[in-house]
Amino acid sequence: MKQTKHFLNLSDLPPDELKAILANAHALKKQKFNPPQIFDGLSLAMVFDKRSTRTRVSFEVAMKQLGGHTIVMSMDEIQLGGSESIESTGNVLSRYVDGIMVRMSDPAPLAELAKHSTIPVINGMTDASHPCQIMASLLTIEEKLGSIEGKKLAWFGDSNNVSNTYAEAAPLFGFEFTLSTPPDLKPPPDHPLFKDSRYVKYIKDPKEAAKDADVLITDTWVSMGQEGKDIEKFWPYQVNAELTACAKDTAIFTHCLPMHEWEEVSEEIARSPASVIYDEAENRLHAQKAILAWCLQDAGVHVQQGQLDLGRGA
Ligand code: CP
Repeated sequence: MKQTKHFLNLSDLPPDELKAILANAHALKKQKFNPPQIFDGLSLAMVFDKRSTRTRVSFEVAMKQLGGHTIVMSMDEIQLGGSESIESTGNVLSRYVDGIMVRMSDPAPLAELAKHSTIPVINGMTDASHPCQIMASLLTIEEKLGSIEGKKLAWFGDSNNVSNTYAEAAPLFGFEFTLSTPPDLKPPPDHPLFKDSRYVKYIKDPKEAAKDADVLITDTWVSMGQEGKDIEKFWPYQVNAELTACAKDTAIFTHCLPMHEWEEVSEEIARSPASVIYDEAENRLHAQKAILAWCLQDAGVHVQQGQLDLGRGA
């Protein structure tokens, strides 16, 4: 039976398909001023149970620039989770639109929605993962430093859904990912993140973790819903000039945004030439286009995987 092309977890896709999506994201960025109308007549429903700037705007603009339409709903506006079951919602939306993008805290209902939808369901971020963000981050790193394969990425501060997804991506794309957090946040050695020690490791000392890194990464120490959290233990993990000096001279700084100014990163580094944070934000748009093109193949979007050849047809 044909599988619906849901984009829920990076590890659900074979590495060659992920790499093809990334290649298509590069290609679509090159065509940003003459976007191919490959989503003509297609619609995407988007549902949010949390705030969003980048995810919401980039998906909406991605669909529209390529000829499609969007319908955006907050959880307060849709029957889902209230008077209508996930099964019914999946079945109904499948009769109206061509894809569903959902941001919701709990990954379980998202997987349940995918089970009951005959159209692709895209993970727009859960508390467990943020695959669309990582595709955009990898696109940015490749633009600045070349192929992601073999690069050394180092993450500092709190571990969260974004660091989890970098760790998930590391063996799939062949890069090294080092997690450097306060010791009480170190995931246990048998955690699935560490299933392949060639790609993912934990180093408590942030300067040691930064040594020879190509990319320094952080994220807010206070994720949505954690307001009032004590951040004292995170200060040694701030990405600042002292830490950056341990990395390669060519190292870049990435952050998925929004950031807490100037906690997890110093102003000096965030505003330095090494900082690619706004390129990374822009690249959410180009990455979303490529993810959507992969998901919408059953709706007639033609993706010649890995050959940078996109079209629409039978
Ligand atoms: N990085 C990210 O997902 O941003 P938003 O929360 O604004 O969508």
